[in-house]
Amino acid sequence: MINYKALINGEFIDNGNWLEIYDPYNNEVAGKVTALKPEDIEKAFMFARNAQENWENVDLITRIKLMNDFKNLIEKNKNEIAKIMTSEISKNLKESLTEVERTIELIEYTLEEAKRMEPLALTGEGIGAKNKIGIFSRVAKGVVLAISPFNYPFNLALAKIIPALVMGNTVVFKPATAGSLVGAYIGKLSIEAKFPKGIFNVVTGRGREIGDIITSNKEIDMISFTGSVPIGKNIKEKASTKDLVLELGGKDPALVLDDSKLENWSKQIVDGAFGYSGQRCTAIKRVITTNKIADKLVPMLKSQIESLTVGSPYENKAITPVIDQKSADFIKGLIDDSVSKKAKVLCGNKFENNLVYPTLIDNVTLDMRVAWEEPFGPVLPIIRIDDLNEMIKIANDSEFGLQASVFCSDISNAINVAKKIKAGTVNINGKSQRGPDCFPFLGIKDSGQGVQGVRESLLSMTRYSGIVINY
Ligand code: NAP
Ligand code: G3P
Repeated sequence: MINYKALINGEFIDNGNWLEIYDPYNNEVAGKVTALKPEDIEKAFMFARNAQENWENVDLITRIKLMNDFKNLIEKNKNEIAKIMTSEISKNLKESLTEVERTIELIEYTLEEAKRMEPLALTGEGIGAKNKIGIFSRVAKGVVLAISPFNYPFNLALAKIIPALVMGNTVVFKPATAGSLVGAYIGKLSIEAKFPKGIFNVVTGRGREIGDIITSNKEIDMISFTGSVPIGKNIKEKASTKDLVLELGGKDPALVLDDSKLENWSKQIVDGAFGYSGQRCTAIKRVITTNKIADKLVPMLKSQIESLTVGSPYENKAITPVIDQKSADFIKGLIDDSVSKKAKVLCGNKFENNLVYPTLIDNVTLDMRVAWEEPFGPVLPIIRIDDLNEMIKIANDSEFGLQASVFCSDISNAINVAKKIKAGTVNINGKSQRGPDCFPFLGIKDSGQGVQGVRESLLSMTRYSGIVINY
């Protein structure tokens, strides 16, 4: 069992209070992290503020070099990081390692992009101000609060931390409770990489106990949050800053408009719906198609879903336990509701505690909760509708607007339909996904505000600083 400590001002904090992190697979204690108290949180922000000006004055190349040293330590320890991740979120070892390697690429790309945050130079000549030249540089906002969710505890943490630090901000980072071991490990690596004291702080503890204390701290200049809609809305209400990037929940639809490539598309849909046991914000969470296409597609989906391996994340099974029993119970509630309203469960709907077998539900109607709510688990509802405009309406009637997929061989038709779907991004002939990490990533409606992605994060964590020369 590993014990990691919170990190404040370059010191590991042991205040005698611990938060036990349980392995969702075997329910054993995977490790412990410091459970910080309110006064500890105040200190973290005070030291972050105190360190920020000096850190911003360090030249960009030196900041990049330090981040690169940190990245090299990740490379060196990637297998250990992956094992820790698996032990606390039940992501299988292979997918955990993939997340770490993906993050290394994200950091490399971010450090390259940081050099291209060129100032904007403008002349006033085109608007009757010929004696003025304006130079608008991007500078740090100050103290950034980064809050990450359980399902990508490494990638969605560093996707915020690295752009913030490399542009001269200092960071207070709150990992999810399930994800805190990995989060605290990031702190450990930052010390080995010799980050200056106070530029990077890791505050651990239950969000429900310290979350509001954290987000209401007056030293915060910007919050980058990834998590659920309720918590995102709570942050909007309680935060001491209005400068927010929120990446929230999703109910991504997959519209299947013809049956020309169903073999290929069905694989995309199964991968999109059941990757990491459906615990992805961008998971495909509903298929909307015609009866005729569904009659061919559903048997393909069923056969592929039934071949998904189920069990231990340590044996790289495809479907592993969801994060906790509460999540499993919620998923069961959605399935039970659909069955009570005459939906047809074609496979799955089998539970071994928080191990949820991959479930395919056909004939889902709009009165069922599973048509609209986010299971965050291995559940795929099929909604059969023969009218294209009605399909698009159902896709858009959701409170969510993260991503969507349109499967259609006629690209012009696919684009025309995609343009009518109200979402941050529509994927044509592919599953919905946030990656590659250099693409802008955004949700509309309840799925979030602001934009993530390498360049977008560098921009959201900086502001213009203008100098106008009069001559
Ligand atoms: P969550 O319960 O909202 O928690 C997200 C983070 O917020 C965690 O670090 C959590 O800490 C913290 N938190 C809890 N209460 C807080 C408060 N009052 N103030 C500030 N922070 C607080 O979400 P999750 O269960 O980790 O992740 C699943 C949800 O996130 C799903 O809805 C999924 O769709 C969404 N998500 C969205 C994206 C995206 O990019 N759009 C990506 C991943 C996940 P504790 O863990 O200690 O409570
Ligand atoms: O839910 C996390 C979200 O960021 C998914 O990432 O790349 O698996 O679509 P990805």
